[in-house]
Amino acid sequence: MGKLTVIQDYDLYTVSDHETWAELCKRHSELQTNYISKAYTDGYKKLSLDQDAIVKIDEISKLLKSLSGWTLSPVTGLIPTKDFFFMLINKVYPINIYIRKKSEIDFSEQPDIFHDVCGHLPLLTNLKFTKFLTAFSIIALKYVNNERAIEFLGRLYWYTYEMGVLKEGGEYKPYGGAIITSSEEVANVKNKNIPKHDFDLDHIFKTSYNPFKLQNEYFVINTFDELFCCLENLEAKLIEYLLLPEPDYTLRNYTLSGSIGRTFNNVIGFLNDVQYKFPDAISFVAGQPDENFFDIENHLSKFHTFVNHLAETTGNTERTVINNIGQYNRTKGIVNDILAKYLRNDENIIVTGEDILITVGAQEAFAISVSTICNRNKDVILIEDPSYIGLSSFAKVFNYDIEGVSIDEEGID
Ligand SMILES: [Fe+2]
Repeated sequence: MGKLTVIQDYDLYTVSDHETWAELCKRHSELQTNYISKAYTDGYKKLSLDQDAIVKIDEISKLLKSLSGWTLSPVTGLIPTKDFFFMLINKVYPINIYIRKKSEIDFSEQPDIFHDVCGHLPLLTNLKFTKFLTAFSIIALKYVNNERAIEFLGRLYWYTYEMGVLKEGGEYKPYGGAIITSSEEVANVKNKNIPKHDFDLDHIFKTSYNPFKLQNEYFVINTFDELFCCLENLEAKLIEYLLLPEPDYTLRNYTLSGSIGRTFNNVIGFLNDVQYKFPDAISFVAGQPDENFFDIENHLSKFHTFVNHLAETTGNTERTVINNIGQYNRTKGIVNDILAKYLRNDENIIVTGEDILITVGAQEAFAISVSTICNRNKDVILIEDPSYIGLSSFAKVFNYDIEGVSIDEEGID
């Protein structure tokens, strides 16, 4: 454990770091008035945390020790699972010394001192909760070398310690640290459309999660005793789940079209299978946009701005413009002038809207350019190898000669 502990060199924090802490605390105290569980706010008051400057870990550690017997250990980054549970069993809680940057004020992917201190320490003053945490850690440490067991136990940990919700006075109030340190997640709990399930081990073991997105569901307890009681059956339930056959992760062998060569079938089949069986896998497929960056609702909210723009530039009424948008329209696109402006301002490319042809993705662009430029009987299309599969597949389906040109660090060979 000694090797994991670092020194919180307080002088290394900048003025900006302390300002970030103060801003986070200000937002946090506004949230606490109504939306967070009493179990948490009671503990928070006991800690009397400095609201203006980053806390000194050794000072809170002493206070926490007098309140509940727990002490704190300054660390950096995520520490290995085994060490983490070993620390918890010994009533030592790791606190990251890092503080997020101002640009990450709403969400920090890295654990930081604000999350660890404000998210987790208040409940470490609650003896019923720490009883659960210690007993859970003792069980978890036994299974720490079993990846599947840790996955199931990780779900219980996630839906309690990080994303736990208590029912207080008929209302859903979070006690989990990851909810409490995110105003968006607190609002998500209040959203009536987000399901709140009764606490149930079976259900939790079957429910995976994504730590980088707002949650789709929560599990609700009525008291911390309920958490402790579930531990009685935890190992039996865990073994029951470990005995289940492993999920089938075999990739299917399906093909798309006889016109496309074998290699291409395998590539597309493989990519489709990965996406189907591993929905959380990060896709590096060229041309496959990352859904995390979709912002459809925001785009829709700009619809009337676009309508006003068209009404101004065409002299038509708003109604006519909207009707025209719904009608068959210019096949080369209707946002060309805006795109030309963007290309001029951001990319220093000078074109007019009429010079631009908007296609539905790169494949349509290839289809148009290849079929208008290339002579199928005389020309050979040369492409970098490896290259975008959409182009090579198109060329093969429509019987164009295509040859790969190898590339190395120097570029095309
Ligand atoms: Fe956490």
